Amino acid sequence: MPISAARFGTLMQLLRGQRRHGDHAGRLQAFYAPQADGYDDFRERLLHGRQELVAGLLANLAQTNRPILAELGAGTGKNLDYIGREVARFKRIDLVDLCPALLAIARRRAASLANVKVIEADVRRYRPAAALDAVLCSYSLSMMPEWREVLDLALALLKPGGTMAVVDFTVTAGQSRFARRFWQAWFGHDGVRLSPEHLALLRRHFPEHRYQERRCAVPYLPGLTVPYYLFIGRKTAGNA
Ligand SMILES: C[S@@+](CC[C@H](N)C(=O)[O-])C[C@H]1O[C@@H](n2cnc3c(N)ncnc32)[C@H](O)[C@@H]1O
Repeated sequence: MPISAARFGTLMQLLRGQRRHGDHAGRLQAFYAPQADGYDDFRERLLHGRQELVAGLLANLAQTNRPILAELGAGTGKNLDYIGREVARFKRIDLVDLCPALLAIARRRAASLANVKVIEADVRRYRPAAALDAVLCSYSLSMMPEWREVLDLALALLKPGGTMAVVDFTVTAGQSRFARRFWQAWFGHDGVRLSPEHLALLRRHFPEHRYQERRCAVPYLPGLTVPYYLFIGRKTAGNA
């Protein structure tokens, strides 16, 4: 099957991997800039469960009047497509990321949406003007070295009853040691760190939650599947 130039460029960058030197923001920009144009197309086939997670998030917010949502590590803002016409219901949606190459696409996507703000920042520095009704992390926690700090911050920024929605790759006890190591090395090459600890802390922070674990195929790796999870939690009064 012929492969488009954008897809080929993306594939080459994934094989090259994330560079090891420089700060986190510089590494992300160097990694994503050459594949920004092909990002959405390629990730559509790699980052599964986003549409379903967003549907679950919207269901949780059905009774909330003019909710405020922040996506932490929003990249190109692709999840706006899954929110669709419901975007208009939101008082505000903040898309936070520190990679200018991906944010340029998010800005184009949000250009006609007055209630969507694109914020270039390390999520650890993000401070919204008001408490949040929902936080979305879509395949971003595993790319954040300071993910514990990010989850602590998300909990602090949410209103009581607010929703935490996460979809990401993971490793599970059901995998062989070889499979865990293989996927950690494969994704680690591109700066994606798979760890069961993400889920452990999510469960502690949001004891009231729904959780599903699934497996998906990976483009160009026929026959292999990697685990990913969908997590939707509520901030309880006791966890304020
Ligand atoms: C795999 S992408 C996912 C993007 C988007 N959420 C999606 O579903 O397509 C991970 C994103 O996390 C961002 N990211 C990683 N560390 C970050 C940090 N400390 N602050 C802000 N964004 C960060 C990266 O720049 C990247 O856009």
